[in-house]
Amino acid sequence: MQMKNILVLGGAGYIGSHCCKYLADQGYAPIVFDNLSQGHKDFVKWGPFIKGSLHETDKLIKVMKEYEPVAVMHLAAFLSVGDSVTNPSGYYNNNVVGTISLLDAMIKCDIKNIIFSSSCAIYGQPETIPIQEFHEKSPINPYGRTKLIIEHVLEDYETAYGLKSVCLRYFNAAGADYQSKIGEDHSPETHLIPLILDAALGRINCIEIFGDDYNTPDGTCIRDYLHIMDIAQAHFKSFEYLLAHGKSLRLNLGNEKGYSVKELIQVVKDITGNTFKVNISARRPGDPAKLIGSTQLAKTTLNWQPQYNAIDEIIRSAWEWHRKRFSV
Ligand code: UFG
Repeated sequence: MQMKNILVLGGAGYIGSHCCKYLADQGYAPIVFDNLSQGHKDFVKWGPFIKGSLHETDKLIKVMKEYEPVAVMHLAAFLSVGDSVTNPSGYYNNNVVGTISLLDAMIKCDIKNIIFSSSCAIYGQPETIPIQEFHEKSPINPYGRTKLIIEHVLEDYETAYGLKSVCLRYFNAAGADYQSKIGEDHSPETHLIPLILDAALGRINCIEIFGDDYNTPDGTCIRDYLHIMDIAQAHFKSFEYLLAHGKSLRLNLGNEKGYSVKELIQVVKDITGNTFKVNISARRPGDPAKLIGSTQLAKTTLNWQPQYNAIDEIIRSAWEWHRKRFSV
């Protein structure tokens, strides 16, 4: 029997490559379309690769006609909250204008199912914790606004063209499938966990804590970290749901538990046995103090269950991969 194709935009990136691995394990063929601006060619291991940009609508149409994917997973986005504050033009162009080009190609090719990589950044400063899906959406940085705009665009495309979508609002993706030699590798790296691991490896001199005067127990920001393969599992279950029910969904993905920056530094010290310098610096613009998601809806609707909910297990998987990739 011929394998069914799923087109994965951003399939050479951190989250996209783990989704491809999961799809292949389930018997699907991931077709990766990526411009390699942030992704890695060596992360493409489970299907064909097409180098291209979201803005190339005609190329996207050609690829869709050739491979006839049953669905699209869209993870091709600029992803750093801090960067988006200094470079809103790049973020609106890539994340909004680029996505509209993709959606138009899908409509032309009559592909009506998309799983969209959204973010908890659409909520902004939370009024209640854990954050539920109906919480007010008031993003406090351009990155979050680009994701919210696309959620609205998807609603309008459903009304007008019948496009069905699952928007997965991730909290903080972490960890790696290190056996497959894929993991978190951004350039430049801005994310907390890989930076702490860099400090543990001696690749950087110290880890900066961006603010210790937040209204949290130890003064540092709290986030909800979720293992990357649990995110991949949720993408697959969202795809199955769309095919079975033909209904759009908006779902949080997290672990319903929060860890502070200082707590994560301690977990890394305990796991690696290495010590390193820690410096307190100014707050980073656009950072909410505390983000923890309620994920009951994803669990009940998709029958999704995170497999790796212990933080030390998540960090250990990241460390295994990180030291293999970056040790000299
Ligand atoms: N942090 C530091 N020092 C660093 C890097 C980060 O103290 O060197 C802090 C940040 O200020 C923040 C926390 O660590 O409080 C986590 O920061 P990350 O940059 O790792 O992650 P963010 O929470 O800012 O952003 C991530 C993803 C986004 C997503 C968001 C949702 O990168 O795509 O989670 O919370 F939208």
